[in-house]
Amino acid sequence: MEFHVSTAAAEKQRTDCLMLPVYSKGAVLPPITRRVDQAIGGLIKQVMDAGDMQGDAGNTLLLPVAAGLPCKRILLVGCGAKADFSRKNYLTAVRAAFAAWGKTRLSNAACYLTAESPRGTDPYRRARLAAECWHDGAYKFTTMKSGDAEDSPAQQQLTLCVVNRQAAAARKGLKHGIGIGEGIDLAKDLGNLPGNVCTPSYLAQVARGIAKGNSKITLDVLGEAEMRKLKMGAMLSVTAGTSEPAKFLVLHYKGSAASQAPVVLVGKGITFDAGGISLKPPPQMDEMKYDMCGAATVVGVMRAVAHLDLPIKVVGLVPAVENMPSGTAIKPGDVITTASGKTVEVDNTDAEGRLILADALHYSARFNPDVVIDMATLTGACVVALGNEAAGIMGNDDELIETLRKLGEEVGERVWPLPLYNEYLSYLKSEWADIKNAGSRWGGAVTAGAFLQEFVPDKVAWAHLDIAGVAYHEREHNGFPKGASGFGVVLISTYLENLLK
Ligand code: BES
Ligand code: MN
Ligand code: ZN
Repeated sequence: MEFHVSTAAAEKQRTDCLMLPVYSKGAVLPPITRRVDQAIGGLIKQVMDAGDMQGDAGNTLLLPVAAGLPCKRILLVGCGAKADFSRKNYLTAVRAAFAAWGKTRLSNAACYLTAESPRGTDPYRRARLAAECWHDGAYKFTTMKSGDAEDSPAQQQLTLCVVNRQAAAARKGLKHGIGIGEGIDLAKDLGNLPGNVCTPSYLAQVARGIAKGNSKITLDVLGEAEMRKLKMGAMLSVTAGTSEPAKFLVLHYKGSAASQAPVVLVGKGITFDAGGISLKPPPQMDEMKYDMCGAATVVGVMRAVAHLDLPIKVVGLVPAVENMPSGTAIKPGDVITTASGKTVEVDNTDAEGRLILADALHYSARFNPDVVIDMATLTGACVVALGNEAAGIMGNDDELIETLRKLGEEVGERVWPLPLYNEYLSYLKSEWADIKNAGSRWGGAVTAGAFLQEFVPDKVAWAHLDIAGVAYHEREHNGFPKGASGFGVVLISTYLENLLK
């Protein structure tokens, strides 16, 4: 796709598909749309008055255009009531406009929604959101299909239209939106790739590619020998049953002076979770290829942050392991020693995510971070609690949790707080070790959080996002296609960006 910014008047725009905003509830046409309407003899007003188009956020109507205008078609795009034109309605409208365009055979489009002023946006933000939205909507995963790729879409050129003095801001927003969009695409690709392709070594290889392509990103990959030196007994215990070598990726983004404390991001990278000796039942076990979506988000965020060129320091930690049963696998009842020195009774080998995160959280201490955020498809219990509408968020710092909750609502990646009462730790009391890795059935999401907290370095603000219910869609759902969602890339990169405010 080719992107442009234009300041031309809509009635002069030479395009296949002219996207124009309209509002619901009989509101007058926005000035941009009105001028076009005048040029075509009031056709738009007619169809609106006749009720052919309601103008609700997400409504679209494609009109053929007779002579008199340089465009081929007009796509009316509903933005909802003018009085509550919010960022959310704007996103809905833009998403619908791009989807409607995708169903045509028109190769280029000029979008004038960017020239309106939804609440809480500026020209930079509107262009950025439009670019992010385009990426998200156009995403397809066909890597693993042989033969001719599906019919390539007709869409080739998208022009975002703004008024003159907004062009520079819009251009910057467009550039940043594309960067974030590419981060989301990468996270989705990694999530969608099957377990036999996206192994720990593959994740390392992708991270290496990112580091090579960017002077501010460096990568260290720890192999199993280094893990042994670091006494990462938890990592080594989970990888004991597989012949895929485990990798521990350490990505550094250095956008600022060396003295500044970094934010550390940790992503669960189980490239396939069979459950180990506590083997999962067959139905939907294939979905456990998504068990590295936390890792994918961390890698996607690193890429996005580099595109945004943020003057901050970020460390991305990805413990990458496959969880398989075999004669060398760990067994229920085994006791392991984590890198922190704490011992864990492995009550259930399917509670493996918290084990690898324990070693990764402990490892984060060496960077002296102010903030550590981990993301993990950690528990089925979190999906039981919140379904597919929000990630669970837990942590030791109410301010950090509230910041992420508010931001998540704003950017459309919701996170909802679950408590970490001290009492939950008692669910994990072990007769044989310092702690066990699984409790009873009850409170599965929060006991996992309580387990992780035991390994968080002192004096660090920490948040844990359980993304099991939002990292992927089991099937097409609310307009989202089946597959990885890239959840967290927008939330976390915007969080990092906001640290500069
Ligand atoms: N990867 C799973 C959690 C999961 C479940 C992610 C469903 C996405 C969808 C995790 O490793 C796991 O198996 N958790 C167990 C923990 C239990 C054994 C304490 C679970 O949730 O059942
Ligand atoms: Mn598991
Ligand atoms: Zn898992």
